[in-house]
Amino acid sequence: MNPVQLLDLVQQHGAPLYVYDAEKIQGQYKRLTDAFSKVEQLRINYAVKALSNIAILQLFKKIGAGLDTVSLQEVQLGLHAGFTPDRIIYTPNGVSFEEIEQAAQLGVQINIDNLSVLEHFGQLHPTVPVCIRINPHVMAGGNNNISVGHIDSKFGISIHQMPHLLRIVENTGMHINGIHMHTGSDILDIEVFLYAAEILFEAAAQFKELDFIDFGSGFKVPYKKGDIETDVEDLGKKLSKRFNQFQKAYGRPLALAFEPGKFLVSEAGFFLAKVNVVKQTTSTVFAGIDSGFNHLIRPMFYGSQHAIENLSHPKGKERFYTVVGYICETDTFATNRRITEIREGDILCFRNAGAYCFSMSSNYNSRFKPAEVLWRDGKGILIRERETFEDLLKNQIMIDLR
Ligand SMILES: Cc1ncc(COP(=O)(O)O)c(C=O)c1O
Repeated sequence: MNPVQLLDLVQQHGAPLYVYDAEKIQGQYKRLTDAFSKVEQLRINYAVKALSNIAILQLFKKIGAGLDTVSLQEVQLGLHAGFTPDRIIYTPNGVSFEEIEQAAQLGVQINIDNLSVLEHFGQLHPTVPVCIRINPHVMAGGNNNISVGHIDSKFGISIHQMPHLLRIVENTGMHINGIHMHTGSDILDIEVFLYAAEILFEAAAQFKELDFIDFGSGFKVPYKKGDIETDVEDLGKKLSKRFNQFQKAYGRPLALAFEPGKFLVSEAGFFLAKVNVVKQTTSTVFAGIDSGFNHLIRPMFYGSQHAIENLSHPKGKERFYTVVGYICETDTFATNRRITEIREGDILCFRNAGAYCFSMSSNYNSRFKPAEVLWRDGKGILIRERETFEDLLKNQIMIDLR
């Protein structure tokens, strides 16, 4: 998408605004399917949590993806978007047992990551096929909050618990049809994937009726020119070869699954916000935008560095700015960032705003959530209206204090 198209959308829908480029999403999906073209059965299950707008889910359905979900509500959204239950995997962590049962009733693939839950589920529902989430204890991932494979992690069944796991399966007679891992996000080194995959193969060999092996996700995407990213093409070559070898030895057709979020939608997203104030202080020049961590929390939560461009003044002289929001706490999007001269009223564009941006937004400070637009075939389609005061009041109950 180009700056003129983005500015036109702001004119039409106002700011702050999220815009997603359908072509980029489709391009990333194709990159991944091309990289693994040598695998007979490939399942790409889009991680709904990254960006859960129903129109985005519809787009994924159209291009052939399945869904990776972590809550009953994400399952319901997927079904609402038209996915059949067999195309949805549900990977909860720490949810109530009733929620897992409800998901099973909806017919989606259950993925369990806790031995006591597995035992309980197996005793009550031995005929429901279950996938198990293994924690291979491989330290991977960028920020601490998104590294989930290490020894202190709450995720997955430890690989060291295999004997107990096998005993539960035998005792309950349950049917394990898949094996899964997800070691974290922002994995740079494909050797980490390959190493963890070996651990998963070893575990997989102990089950006789698997239909799929799910390698989770964690692909790192670039945030600016020259950034390192996961080399999915190289991973595709190496992992496909090893997977096909394993499948042959296993003696039964297996699907290879992934569940990427960031890789598919991060770079497709643009967050557009208007500059309210430019404020010179003793140490910096602040550009204060008409937004805050209520709309985009990743810089504060993960320290993510979203590239920021001044769409309204692209040829201006470059200066250094600290870009902040309007929240009543420190909400710094970027410090000492070189941006073309910013004037009040200018529109700034934050890149990589597709994944974990709108989906993590809130109504903090009683602000409205922004509108969302999908850019497809040269046209902007409104896929979520900006909230209104009625939305803020919805579900709140005024009381009679007489
Ligand atoms: C179980 C699971 N699968 C997939 C993902 C998606 O990861 P990413 O957005 O890095 O592709 C996550 C992210 O938190 C996850 O927890």
